[in-house]
Amino acid sequence: MKPVVDIRGLTKRFGERIVLRDLDLQVPPGVCFGVLGPNGAGKTTALRAMLGLTPVSDGTIHIFGQPMPAAGRTVRARCGVVPQADNLDPDFTVIENLRVYARYFGLSRIDVESRIQALLGFVELTDRADSPIATLSGGMKRRLTIARALINQPELIILDEPTTGLDPQVRRMIWARLRALREEGRTLLLTTHYMDEAERLCDQLVIVDHGRVLEHGSPRDLIHRHVEPEVLEVRGAAERTAAVLVDIPGARIEQIGDIHYCYTRDARSLLATLEQHRDLTFLHRPSNLEDVFLKLTGHELRD
Ligand SMILES: Nc1ncnc2c1ncn2[C@@H]1O[C@H](COP(=O)(O)OP(=O)(O)OP(=O)(O)O)[C@@H](O)[C@H]1O
Ligand SMILES: [Mg+2]
Repeated sequence: MKPVVDIRGLTKRFGERIVLRDLDLQVPPGVCFGVLGPNGAGKTTALRAMLGLTPVSDGTIHIFGQPMPAAGRTVRARCGVVPQADNLDPDFTVIENLRVYARYFGLSRIDVESRIQALLGFVELTDRADSPIATLSGGMKRRLTIARALINQPELIILDEPTTGLDPQVRRMIWARLRALREEGRTLLLTTHYMDEAERLCDQLVIVDHGRVLEHGSPRDLIHRHVEPEVLEVRGAAERTAAVLVDIPGARIEQIGDIHYCYTRDARSLLATLEQHRDLTFLHRPSNLEDVFLKLTGHELRD
């Protein structure tokens, strides 16, 4: 099936600085597709370029088979966008924000009113319809921004960190709504720094760094491909921990800060050893997408 988003060789420079380097990305229809990457990796820039909101230096972008930015208006009419930073209009109430946005799409007032009521229900803001934006919590603003992105019944929904800074209840509520949209057959493209969120929501994802795609696959494939299934996080004085762990066969050990991460296919001998060293504390867990992310993007801080 033809991809909904098809990006080839996308390069973007801000002055001397190369922010996207020969980036390729294909998003098939009807999937939830994740773009992961450290701060400054180029995620927001790529999404903005896709929507024709920032000029590109090289490469091609097609959305729904149409070239961007040339087909900007028609393509954007079929997309919903949740930007990284909230840009709700503070001078308007909740319902007015939805009405004003609907007008951009030339939707008639009569069509829109019933849709707005349905969307307010969808994000559980019906009783806040007449509240000014300033009186909303962060979670309510995010839910409203998601409702706003759905006003034109988009086929492709682009969400830039939809749940950053939200509490566990709101995150779960948003996940359920995003899954419902995917079940309806819409295509979702999202960025997130929450690896658990990506693991739960995304059918496929890419990990980008320094403007390049490092890896592509389903969360489970990526974990299987890059890390051993079990991890022991061992905490204690670094030299003491290193001395205890030195003789463990079959374990790949990485140190980040004061923690030694021991990746292994079979944790039994490691657990037996650690039982004899009660001065070390440890956490035994299955490996996850965050382990893959750290392995591929390294431990250095960005930005
Ligand atoms: N208008 C701009 N002018 C100059 N540099 C910019 C501009 N916008 C972004 N950048 C730079 O481009 C790089 C990528 O930024 P971008 O916002 O795309 O990253 P990101 O992956 O979305 O990061 P985050 O996870 O922090 O949101 C950063 O180094 C940033 O400083
Ligand atoms: Mg960003």
